[in-house]
Parts: sequence; C-alpha cells; structure tokens
Amino acid sequence: MSPLVAVAGKGGVGKSTIAALLVRVLSEGGAVLAVDADPNSNLAQRLGVEVSGTVGQLREGLLSTHGQPPRDMSKQEYLRLKLREMLVEGDGFDLLTMGRPEGPGCYCYVNNLLRVLVDQLMDSHRYVVIDNEAGMEHLSRRTARSMDVLLLVSDPTPVGAATAGRLAELADELELKVGRKVLLMNEVREGQEERAEALAEGTGLEHYLLHEDERVREGAYAGAPLKGDEALARELREIIPRLFPSDRRR
Ligand SMILES: Nc1ncnc2c1ncn2[C@@H]1O[C@H](COP(=O)(O)OP(=O)(O)O)[C@@H](O)[C@H]1O
Ligand SMILES: [Mg+2]
Repeated sequence: MSPLVAVAGKGGVGKSTIAALLVRVLSEGGAVLAVDADPNSNLAQRLGVEVSGTVGQLREGLLSTHGQPPRDMSKQEYLRLKLREMLVEGDGFDLLTMGRPEGPGCYCYVNNLLRVLVDQLMDSHRYVVIDNEAGMEHLSRRTARSMDVLLLVSDPTPVGAATAGRLAELADELELKVGRKVLLMNEVREGQEERAEALAEGTGLEHYLLHEDERVREGAYAGAPLKGDEALARELREIIPRLFPSDRRR
C-alpha cells in the first residue's frame, strides 16, 4: 500500500507548511494524494492551486434534496464521480479538501461510502499526505487506513514539546493505527540546536530538528505558494528516507 503520512500538532507550529513541502518533495518519487483534513482548509493555497469543492459539501448535498444522484445512478457511482471531479490536479500531486466534518444529522451510510471511496483514491497514488486541524479527534474518521508515520510538529519550546508528547499519547487513546510517531521540532533558530535537541529528547519520541526558514516565513506573508526548493524543503528531503526506510522505489 502507498505510504501514508499524517501531520498533526497544535495550531501555528507549521503543520500545513510541512505537509505542503512533503507533497512537493515526495512528488519527486511518484504521484502524491494531498488530503486537507483541516476544516479551516489552506493546503491548496500553500500548494498554489484552487479548491473546486469539498467532501463536506458533497456530503451535505447528498443529504439535501438538491445534490441527489440522477435516477439511473447509484449513490456510490455518483459519489465516486463527484470525488473525481473535485480532485484538484497539481504538478505531481492531486489535492482533496475534506472541508467541514459530518454534522449530527449525517447518515453512517453516506460517511462509510465516502471513507471507502477516499481510501480507494489513496490506494491509487504513490504517497498520501494528510494535513490536520490542531486536534486529532477527526483523524480516525477520515480514513480506515493505517498511518505509516504520524508526524507530530512542535515549536522549540518546553510547552510545545509537552504538547507533542501529549498528542502522541492521545493518538494511542484514540486507537489511531499508527506505524511510527515522529516528532519534528520546527522553527529551530541557528545556534539553538542543542537546546531544541534536549527538549526533543525529553519527549522520548524519535525526532528531527527543522530550522527556521526566513524565505518560508516571508512567502507566507506574501501569500506565495511553497515550491519545494526552500531550505526547509531540503531539510525534509534528507529526513524522508528515514521516515520510509522500506520504500525502495525512491
Ligand atoms: N521552519 C519555518 N520557518 C519559518 N516560518 C515557518 C516555519 N514553519 C512554519 N512557518 C510559518 O509559521 C506560520 C504557521 O505555519 P502553518 O504551517 O500555517 O501552521 P499550522 O498549519 O500548524 O497552523 C506560517 O506563517 C508559516 O509560514
Ligand atoms: Mg494548518
């Protein structure tokens, strides 16, 4: 099965930035399915593509009178078609935006269909990268597939490290099917590596440091998409073989 990596962490630590750069870097080795599972979606913007619709809108349409499949089409066929339509094609990747999670009035039937179809989409790509909201509560409902790597992103502060440690525990409590949990300590300043390393070490998690990248920050202010040639992308490129050691096709 295609390696699946999910990015989690508290707000503002760099999840979407890292997810977008992973999409760029992994797409050098094969087609990537990028999944934006944050209801406050912004992965498309980071990747420089336009969202044409969300899985949430599709679900809501199917639960109302408009947005019903034509008479001669099953719900499953209709959803498969609509999902294909809303998949945004980028350079080396396809992006699926999940949008709002299901409301209380949603039938399990529709959700189960959607999950099966999204899982099939995942299988038809070489890699899957899922960007998440700050919590992880919805993650298990997004896919039935196991995650090869859960990337816990943190800022290089004691509070950040403690939060990442708690999220690692939460993943176990939620019974997420995770192969490895890896801490990425992000936005480490030049010269502050030793302190960041000590913080990361303290979590007991496998970990890597990522440096502060002025170009990435500047790009975010300017609203420019991430390209994959930033210093931060180069750091990620070096980590990837260690994240997927059994992935021989790279
Ligand atoms: N390594 C880094 N160096 C500089 N700025 C960064 C770095 N990582 C993230 N940022 C910036 O931090 C802000 C929050 O990042 P974002 O990816 O949106 O976080 P999250 O998705 O976790 O909420 C953005 O402005 C982003 O450009
Ligand atoms: Mg984000």
